[in-house]
Amino acid sequence: CDPDMLQDFCIADLNATTVINGFPCKPVSQVTSNDFFFNGLSREGSTANIFGSNVTAANVLSFPGLNTLGISMNRVDFTPGGINPPHSHPRATETGVIIKGELLVGFISTSNVFYSKVLKAGEMFVIPKGLVHFQQNVGSGKAQTITAFNSQQPGVVVVSLALFAAQPTIPNTVLAKTFQVDERVVLDIKSRFGS
Ligand code: GLV
Ligand code: MN
Repeated sequence: CDPDMLQDFCIADLNATTVINGFPCKPVSQVTSNDFFFNGLSREGSTANIFGSNVTAANVLSFPGLNTLGISMNRVDFTPGGINPPHSHPRATETGVIIKGELLVGFISTSNVFYSKVLKAGEMFVIPKGLVHFQQNVGSGKAQTITAFNSQQPGVVVVSLALFAAQPTIPNTVLAKTFQVDERVVLDIKSRFGS
C-alpha cells in the first residue's frame, strides 16, 4: 500500500512538471469542496468491446483529491458473459462488492492455487496484492461491481494484453516456447488484439 501522508490532504496538481513519487499539491488557497467529490462512477461504462466489460477508474488521475491518501475505487460494468480479464495490480490489494448481477470472481495464488466463488449483489471479495484475478458475468443480465484499493494508483497489468499486445511486440519465438505452441497460434492470438 501507499506511504502515509504528512498533512491533511494534498490535491494533486496533475499539470506539474516536477517529477516525484506521486503528484505535488495544488496550493491550499485554491482548494475547494469540489476537490473532495467525484461523480465519475455514477455512469455505466460502455461494454461494447471484445471483453464485454468496462472499468471506470476513480484513481488519482481522474480524482486528484485522492493524492497521498492511499485509496481509490473502480466501477466495473459487464454485459452478459462479459469478462474483466485476468490482470493484477502491482501496488494494491483489492476488495469489491457486487452491486448488480452474478459474477464469478477468482484469483490465483503464487502457488498456482485457484480460489473462486460466484457472488451476487451485496456480497464481497478480496484479492491479495499483486495476484492475478478476474471477474466474469455468469448471470443472464448485466452485472456491476464496485472495487476499492489501498493505493491512489494501483496500476494494472492485463495478462493477455501484456503478452500479446505489447509494443514493440514480444518475439513469437518467446511466446511459442512459453506456451508450448506453434508460432502460428501466437500470431493468431496477437491478431485478435490488433497486433
Ligand atoms: C477489478 O478487478 C478491478 O480491478 O476493478
Ligand atoms: Mn482488479
